[in-house]
Amino acid sequence: MSIKSTISNSSIRLENILIIGNGGRENSLAWAIQKNELVKKVYLNPGNAGSERINKCERIKIDIDNKNQLVEKLDFLKIDLIVIGPEIPLANGLADFLRKKDFKVFGPGKDGAKLEYSKSWAKRFMQDANIPTANFWKVNSIDEAKEIIDSSLLPLVVKADGLASGKGVYIPDSKDECFRAAESIFNGKFGKSGNVVVLEEKIEGPEVSVFALCDGERYIILPTAQDHKRLNEKDEGPNTGGMGAYSPAPLLKDAELKKIIKEIIEPTIDELNKKNIQYRGVIYFGLMITKSGPKVIEYNCRFGDPECQTIMPLMDQNFVFLLEKCAMGNLTGREKFGTSEKVSGCVIATSKGYPHEYQTGFPIEIGKIDSIDCQIFDSGTTLGENGELLTNGGRVLSIVCQDQNFDMVFEKAYKNLKEINFDGIYFRKDIGHQVRNNFSNED
Ligand code: AMP
Ligand code: GLY
Repeated sequence: MSIKSTISNSSIRLENILIIGNGGRENSLAWAIQKNELVKKVYLNPGNAGSERINKCERIKIDIDNKNQLVEKLDFLKIDLIVIGPEIPLANGLADFLRKKDFKVFGPGKDGAKLEYSKSWAKRFMQDANIPTANFWKVNSIDEAKEIIDSSLLPLVVKADGLASGKGVYIPDSKDECFRAAESIFNGKFGKSGNVVVLEEKIEGPEVSVFALCDGERYIILPTAQDHKRLNEKDEGPNTGGMGAYSPAPLLKDAELKKIIKEIIEPTIDELNKKNIQYRGVIYFGLMITKSGPKVIEYNCRFGDPECQTIMPLMDQNFVFLLEKCAMGNLTGREKFGTSEKVSGCVIATSKGYPHEYQTGFPIEIGKIDSIDCQIFDSGTTLGENGELLTNGGRVLSIVCQDQNFDMVFEKAYKNLKEINFDGIYFRKDIGHQVRNNFSNED
């Protein structure tokens, strides 16, 4: 059943919105935000070649590290709300700076972003709040790591403490592999992000992503989603940023979600408050549903990609009000935000070689795409000298469809994918296999 939103507010100024970031996630946020009639313009800094295909959207190029120029430009553009997409500017304190300059910002300050930029800090945080998560050891040297790895009965998961674009996690099958993973991190594979390593007990179960929009005290939960992290079909191959997703995740029934709220989401927000962290943005809970209940695998301080592209088409025109309320700290937590009665799915088309080395600059052909309930959000594209669309990243395009059920969603997504081509295009053919009745691995 669709839910009609009860939030609206015609008295606030939301004419000019700025989104910081350049991926499919930011394009999908822009697409959802522009639906509101109060919004006249959505600027993306820097966006990508797909951004200006979206209604009301314009790309701008401001150096966010040049703080004086940034403030001048934002004043000039009369920006009413700023949404910061990626983790790096959040971890660098961009939201704090902009708030001090009196801008309305959706995105946590540096203190809140620590949930993502230090895995050891996040683990300690969970321990303090009694939030279920895998057991862990924080180690500062390869000798310390070796001692823990040797004394453990099973191979441990090995993680670089800091930001590593989703690549800093190893799931070894042997102790020897564990040791080598820790060694490569300490040897500088991820630079300073690997000065500290977190070793974790390996846990098992399906994964689900839950997003809470938070105003510092209260929160709203968006439709849940399931990502597909592995590169290849049957969930094999290396971890990637995400090869596809679907939403909502039928795996989480109401009772399970209630348990997650009680044991994970509310304790997280309470603990943030206890630590005097006013978190105004989205908290991404990466969860694993284990035999002994849901556990946190990781926190992120931003929307997931491609979960965001998958969820945004389910939002109605009042989505932007939720972001504004979070930014202002005046969410009631009881907002009934509009969601579609449809379900949504996303398939990512990548460059050959991703998540390892890949080439870019290949022309992209896009044929006849369904005009209803199908969106192409560019993830990594650029325009060539003659205005032609070219590949410009590992993840190139997000193909997102909505329909009555997941069979119809993915049938539509794969039908539209046939209309898309570039040299070396790769995508998984089994996205949504968990929720498709018509799926067989022989397809
Ligand atoms: P992260 O970047 O922390 O989300 O980890 C990437 C992926 O590694 C997760 O989505 C899981 O599939 C896997 N992973 C991370 N930590 C663990 C763990 N403790 N046990 C099993 N798998 C894990
Ligand atoms: N889809 C996983 C992430 O955004 O980290």
